Formats: sequence, structure tokens, C-alpha cells
Amino acid sequence: MTHSDVTIFVCVSCRRANPEGEGFHLPGRALADVLHEKLAQTDASHIKVTPVECLAVCNRPSTVAMVGPDRWTYLVGDLDAERHADQIIAAATAFQKTENGIVPWKERPEAFRKGVIARVPPLGFSMPEQDRE
Ligand code: FES
Repeated sequence: MTHSDVTIFVCVSCRRANPEGEGFHLPGRALADVLHEKLAQTDASHIKVTPVECLAVCNRPSTVAMVGPDRWTYLVGDLDAERHADQIIAAATAFQKTENGIVPWKERPEAFRKGVIARVPPLGFSMPEQDRE
């Protein structure tokens, strides 16, 4: 991974009840596939999509984690392949362009404003002295 690479981990184990009322499906697999397809059609080789089995937010399918070196990690849920794939790619592109992973609120796609669950600082982070009160 180069400094500018980012990875979107997509949980492919989350289960969502079928709209018809019987059984479940795994929406994360479709989301990972759509993201792969869309990214393959662009020059966004700096954005990787990696399926993962669980991000421990099982009640917010589909869930993704956006990570990159020296960047805050974002955990976002309630995402859907059909409605949000483009927003996820836009968020990853904005995320990649930052130095620390924090995308200004106004630049975050709506799905990321609504669906953010957590953000985690990068390894080695410490709060600036003037902010410690
Ligand atoms: S199964 Fe998807 S977050 Fe746990």
C-alpha cells in the first residue's frame, strides 16, 4: 500500500431480511461486487475493495470501513449497493485526498453523514497540546 492508497473493507456477512418477508440475503456481497465493477471502470486504482466477514456492527447492513495509512478510519453502515455505491466511491476519493482522513462535513456524501458509526484515529495519533482541555 502506498501512502495514497485507501481500502474499503466491505462486510459480506451482514444479513438483511428479504423484502418479500421470508429469509435473508447478504447485501454486502452485492455491494462489494458493484464497487469492484465501478472502480474497474475508472482510474481509481488507489482505491481497493476488500471483503471482510464482520465489522461488529451487524445490525447496520451493509457496513464498510474506510482505512488508509496515517488516516482516521471511518466505520459506516446502512449502505446499499444500488443507492450508495457512487457515494461510497465519492467518499473514498475525498478521503484519499485528505492528509489525515477527515473529510469536511460539507464534502461528505449524504450516506456517510447519516450512516457514520465511528471514527478511529490512526496509529501513533496524539491530540495537539492546545486542544487537551
Ligand atoms: S456481519 Fe456484518 S458487521 Fe457483523
